[in-house]
Amino acid sequence: GVINAPQKTIEQQCSKLVLSTMSDNAGVTKSLLLATSMAVVGSTFQFGYNTGVINAPQKTIEHYGYPIATSTLNLLWGFTVAVTAVGGMIGSLCAGFAADRYGLKKPMLYNNFTAILAALLMGFSKLAGSFEMLIIGRFIIGINSGINMGIAPMYLTEIAPVKYRGVFGTLGQLGVVTSMLLSQVLGLRWLLGTSTLWPLLLALTGVFAVYQLAVIPFCPESPRFLLVKMNKEDEAREALQWLRGSHYNSKEEMNQMSSEHEAGKDEQKTTIKELFTVSHLRQPLIIAIVMQLSQQLSGINAVFYYSTQLFLAAGIPQEGLTTVGVGIVNVIMTIVSLSLIEHAGRRILHLIGLGGMCVCSILLVVLLNLQRTVVISWLTLVPILLFVAFFQTGPGSIPWFITAELFNQSARPAAVSIAGLVNWLGNFTIGLAYPSINAEIGGYTFIIFAVLLAIFWIFTYFRVPETKGKNINEITALFQ
Ligand code: GLC
Repeated sequence: GVINAPQKTIEQQCSKLVLSTMSDNAGVTKSLLLATSMAVVGSTFQFGYNTGVINAPQKTIEHYGYPIATSTLNLLWGFTVAVTAVGGMIGSLCAGFAADRYGLKKPMLYNNFTAILAALLMGFSKLAGSFEMLIIGRFIIGINSGINMGIAPMYLTEIAPVKYRGVFGTLGQLGVVTSMLLSQVLGLRWLLGTSTLWPLLLALTGVFAVYQLAVIPFCPESPRFLLVKMNKEDEAREALQWLRGSHYNSKEEMNQMSSEHEAGKDEQKTTIKELFTVSHLRQPLIIAIVMQLSQQLSGINAVFYYSTQLFLAAGIPQEGLTTVGVGIVNVIMTIVSLSLIEHAGRRILHLIGLGGMCVCSILLVVLLNLQRTVVISWLTLVPILLFVAFFQTGPGSIPWFITAELFNQSARPAAVSIAGLVNWLGNFTIGLAYPSINAEIGGYTFIIFAVLLAIFWIFTYFRVPETKGKNINEITALFQ
């Protein structure tokens, strides 16, 4: 019924929209999409797949080896999960160093060998009867993910036309959630989550590396790195032309990068110490760090790592399928966020996301503490699903790419490393602390997240500027 009355108005708006996207689309070419798929499938899939893969088949994997006491097994398992975040911290530190020295393409290329090594170690650990191989494999895939999540969002935002930078940044998170869902589905008991097939489930991560190895030779280095960092103007123009199409007039974009190059020419490479001590660098650094903390300390991974426990506590049956349901909401909401990011902007989406999550946490605590009935159990699913939905509105994707937006070429790699490190630290802390806190205060655990979310909301409201549509010179000027 709703579409009847405003038909004419909607028609006019639609035709305007179609016309504007047609002219805007000048910069989105098949080559750009190929380079995007290379970074999304080859890099962000590694992180998402390996975050999701370990959840469902936990019990099957735990019991493959020699007989072990339950307490030792719990410890070993906790370590197997957490060791990936330790690898991630190391990887994110390497990412900045590598990006600064070698650009973005080479580190992505060589990083595939760590993924293949990890896939082999995890895939053959059962055959070799070695828990150690599984742990080392998880550690190496952590290093791989740390490097990937530092480099890929940077590459995506650097190859994107300015007006689509948010969309391309969000595509990184879409890669994470899609691969997470893939691993959750493949990990179901009637697919690869069985006592014989789980090594294959873990080893499949190598497939993404093979894809990237096959496609990356066709893709260019980031034009921004070539020009601003390496001063290779011709190569930068060639890369840009490849990405935008031969009819594209690259003059304006080249000029804009050149002016960044000119401005940064006399600047020495920014050190990590300077990021903390120089005011115009410290301000965006604090924003980048708090954005990462708001993502991890929101409690999102309490849901992703321990959804099974959470659903059992709420009395919801069929936890395996419900976990897949959460994964589906994850993907759908990331797509919604993708379509909103260039209209609504980063700031407002982050605020809506954090605010919504805060309200859902409170609702969840109330429901978990009510007398358990069938209706209440199913009702509990509502704030859990909405919590995930609000997360993907903004906090899921924006922290991963906003660091690359806030800093110029000389400071970007160091800043991305620190932000990545903070993200993995937050991830590690929640992964490790949630089970013990939950054991102590049970249904009240999400109160802690509600308080933290409120604090992050206030910070975002007062301190985070809008970066939508602004070029790097305009953004850095905000902090001068
Ligand atoms: C983000 C977070 C990651 C989380 C995922 C859930 O990518 O960095 O830790 O598991 O979103 O969608």
